Amino acid sequence: MQPLADRHGRVATDLRVSLTDRCNLRCSYCMPAEGLDWLPHEGVLTDDEVVRLVRIGVERLGITEVRFTGGEPLLRRGLSEIVRRTKALDPVPEVSLTTNALGLDKTAGALAEAGLDRVNISLDTVRAEDFATITRRDRLDDVIAGVDAALAAGLNPVKVNAVLLRGINDGQAPELLRWCLDRGVHLRFIEQMPLDPQHVWNRDSMVTAEEILASLESAFTLTPRTAGRGSAPAEEFVVDGGPFTVGVIASVTRPFCGDCDRVRLTADGQVRNCLFARTESDLRTPLRSGADDEELARLWVAAVAGKRAGHGIDDPTFLQPTRPMSAIGG
Ligand code: 5AD
Ligand code: SF4
Repeated sequence: MQPLADRHGRVATDLRVSLTDRCNLRCSYCMPAEGLDWLPHEGVLTDDEVVRLVRIGVERLGITEVRFTGGEPLLRRGLSEIVRRTKALDPVPEVSLTTNALGLDKTAGALAEAGLDRVNISLDTVRAEDFATITRRDRLDDVIAGVDAALAAGLNPVKVNAVLLRGINDGQAPELLRWCLDRGVHLRFIEQMPLDPQHVWNRDSMVTAEEILASLESAFTLTPRTAGRGSAPAEEFVVDGGPFTVGVIASVTRPFCGDCDRVRLTADGQVRNCLFARTESDLRTPLRSGADDEELARLWVAAVAGKRAGHGIDDPTFLQPTRPMSAIGG
């Protein structure tokens, strides 16, 4: 076993695999209204190719957690089988899904049965009109049905990820938390990161973690849960004495790059050592031209070794990655 170590003392054990760059929503911070130029079908890794790379990560490179993302991973027809085959690996990794929950009402049971451990659902507002403004689709009820199905299928703990946008839902943090508490769902707010394809992200209009916490504290008593947050990016707070918690992920104002244990695989088979990396390492070409597991593992190790110390969003020379979030994997 060779760990995925970099020159800054970090070891990647958490693999995020984007299964498609397509999505059935058009969240304004992620995609333009008309969508993006999707990857050509033949460029996307097949189910067998995905499972092979995940297997190499788990068997040879110390990956212990696998998260399937997108775009929207539920659009991938073979998802349940990919999950089942991932849970059959030795050692067995934790397997989770980041999803917008559209269609989860029909698939949550099968995914749980295939061995899926947990889901993170993206939901920024529980007001139908604002949901339609943010996602450009009138589908709030379908997302709620997905949340309820995830709970019913026992995909615990069900977590909701929310992004607050100035002038749309920035005043709704307490309302969203109340909604999550009533359902028994864990909520985490994520500071908006500069990953939008339109490049309109602006540090000054971003809703900060500090502002989110102040807003929550106007309605709830929050107690910090732990001292250090370890490699978990969320700072967790116990709400009104428990049992539920709320998290705030201050990716921009309090970056956690020093504790990062993640590595990403794009839908077209490129290793990205950071969300904000400006380079990728191609595994698809060697994979398709007959490289053996050892060679693929070696390329992967080299890709992580060159990981930079931090994302540098606050650095004046910061450049947004050329691929948007939907192509990189959340
Ligand atoms: N900043 C922060 N979070 C984002 N997401 C998508 N784009 C951004 C961004 N620019 C979130 C989605 C989803 C997860 C994959 O990442 O809302 O919860
Ligand atoms: Fe789709 Fe997620 Fe992007 Fe929204 S943030 S458009 S749900 S991939």
